[in-house]
Amino acid sequence: MKKITIIGNWKLNGTKNLVKKFSKKINLKFKKYSKFINIVLSPPYVYIDRMRKKIKDKKNIFLGSQNTDLRKSGAYTGEISVNMLKDIGVKYIFIGHSERRIYHKENNKKISKKFKIVKDNKLIPILCIGETKKEKKYKLTKVILKKQIKKIFNLCGKNAFKNSYIAYEPVWAIGSGKSASIKDINKVHQFIKDYIFKKSKINNNYKKNFYIQYGGSVTEDNALEIISQKNVDGLLIGANSLNYKKFLKIIDIVYKYYKNKYNV
Ligand code: 13P
Repeated sequence: MKKITIIGNWKLNGTKNLVKKFSKKINLKFKKYSKFINIVLSPPYVYIDRMRKKIKDKKNIFLGSQNTDLRKSGAYTGEISVNMLKDIGVKYIFIGHSERRIYHKENNKKISKKFKIVKDNKLIPILCIGETKKEKKYKLTKVILKKQIKKIFNLCGKNAFKNSYIAYEPVWAIGSGKSASIKDINKVHQFIKDYIFKKSKINNNYKKNFYIQYGGSVTEDNALEIISQKNVDGLLIGANSLNYKKFLKIIDIVYKYYKNKYNV
């Protein structure tokens, strides 16, 4: 059974107090969920180590980072490296979130370098891809996604996506209150899988360790329908991951769905 991954992205939000409250609630439930669900918590850099201390030894809860620099060390004031993130127990690193593409002008070339350094350090990249509203309007979704993925293959080779995640996050859906339609999620995830498997050295183990997440206005109202699609391996949640009641509600919905599905 492939476990589902639920990732929370706190973005530029959070306090010491939120880390404390949040981890306390999650810790109470982690055992129940561990059979089917892996949880990745991604607070801002400054709170990661605090979160680690609070959730330590929970086998199905992992730490994620929202970003990394593409260099290991040196005179780069204000940056954080993969080595440092690894040093404090981070396992997953987001690469190319649309907010970094937009506000920090990260292009596909830079993103592919970051992806490579994460893989070279045996951490798990979560490559975020997605089209803008305009690109969707002009039916360019597939062209854009292909471009975003291709650069990674060019730099990292055929096995680039082994033990990796892709998060399909349509830019227009993020923070808008309107997620992509189920039909589109299915269609796009299938397209991504087909494209990646075609360009990779495929074997079943590879498929088992490759995940596609959906992100963009995931709520307790749409989580069940999204997660029950065959091409969806998990969720990437922004705003609703900041409220532990809402976040846990979504996890609970997913848990019940799997419990029912596997009849355990
Ligand atoms: P929202 O869930 O707030 O739409 O954000 C999605 C996202 O960007 C997660 O990375």
